[in-house]
Amino acid sequence: MANENLGAAKKAKNDEFYTQYADIEKEMNAYLEYNPDVFRDKTILLPCDDPEWSNFTKYFAQNFENFGLKKLISTSYAPNSKPKTVPYQPALFELEDERFDEVKTQANGKIFTLTRDVSGDKRIDVDDLEWSYLEGDGDFRSDEVTKLRDESDLIITNPPFSLFREFLSWLVAGNKLFSIIGNMNAITYKEAFPLIKNNGMWLGATNFNVGMYFEVPDSWNYSDSYKFERERNGKKVSRVPGVCWYANIEHGKRHQPLPLMTKDDNTKFSRHKEVRGSGYQTYENFDAIEVPFTDAIPSDFEGVMGVPISFLDKYNPDQFEILGNGQSMADELGIRPVGDKFVSDYYAQGNKGQIGPTWNNLVYRQGEKTVIPYQRILIRHRRPHGK
Ligand SMILES: C[S@@+](CC[C@H](N)C(=O)[O-])C[C@H]1O[C@@H](n2cnc3c(N)ncnc32)[C@H](O)[C@@H]1O
Repeated sequence: MANENLGAAKKAKNDEFYTQYADIEKEMNAYLEYNPDVFRDKTILLPCDDPEWSNFTKYFAQNFENFGLKKLISTSYAPNSKPKTVPYQPALFELEDERFDEVKTQANGKIFTLTRDVSGDKRIDVDDLEWSYLEGDGDFRSDEVTKLRDESDLIITNPPFSLFREFLSWLVAGNKLFSIIGNMNAITYKEAFPLIKNNGMWLGATNFNVGMYFEVPDSWNYSDSYKFERERNGKKVSRVPGVCWYANIEHGKRHQPLPLMTKDDNTKFSRHKEVRGSGYQTYENFDAIEVPFTDAIPSDFEGVMGVPISFLDKYNPDQFEILGNGQSMADELGIRPVGDKFVSDYYAQGNKGQIGPTWNNLVYRQGEKTVIPYQRILIRHRRPHGK
């Protein structure tokens, strides 16, 4: 039981990190570049937020007039519903307000809305945010927050990673435009991959292979997974690797074609030693070639290619068609079982891991060596170059 609690607390605690202003600005700028009116006359909901910390609220409140927004709504999660390790102190604006409630400040979420000039300075900005306690704790799954989702045009946030699957399903059920931050491993989740495959969701414009830095509370006890790394603009920040934006809002990057060399040129000149000289391996159990790096995709290959999931960062739906992913869709795609010979060779070569003859993930041989590549996405050119 003690261990369970610890596990749950650790998992939940890892949800407490806050997106930097510059990262939000960079991603939103890509949407605005593509369509300057993307936010005009729109209601934006920022769920799983915390305006005391949140740069999402700050960013959209500061740009309210600039973007021509109709309404901004931000909801926060009750301190009592967060793990006990997350410190909480009511903010000054709340303490000084006559509506301050000692119980609700801990047990309820809050809602902040921005629609009009409250301060009388003839501008609508962060000073005009109006707040009240929610009836419940601000859980995104509650009827109350779901109703706000249904009233909004766009949902934008960095949701709790521990509830990412649920959050995505909740989002998709709302059928709204969205942009959210998540871990790149979520790409292959059954809640996410079919959406990506069918062009209902794509990766944001921010290049994801560098990871992102997030602000972390001052009073944190830093765990192994979230080490305090440095200070930026007076705030502690920590790097979370493999993080990306998931969105269904258009941006220009996903319409830029990926520049590629032909199969022959890659074999001669590729900067990757796995390709240069030897060319491409063919899978043992599926009719496709293994392309271990996105920039080594041959421009003129007509068949199916297995590429790493980081390909999605460069995916242009006009250039490529996604057929599936090699792990969770192996049956659907018709990837054959690896068979006895592959298994015995695999173990004879000293490899570890549990595979059996009926196992049907993509595998190939490089010379005599048996190889099981990390997650692969199967793609095909829409118009192979020169054909
Ligand atoms: C990764 S943080 C991001 C906060 C903010 N959106 C930002 O980017 O600065 C996720 C937040 O969601 C909150 N949260 C956790 N579970 C939640 C739930 N079920 N419903 C709503 N919010 C939740 C966490 O307490 C945390 O503050």
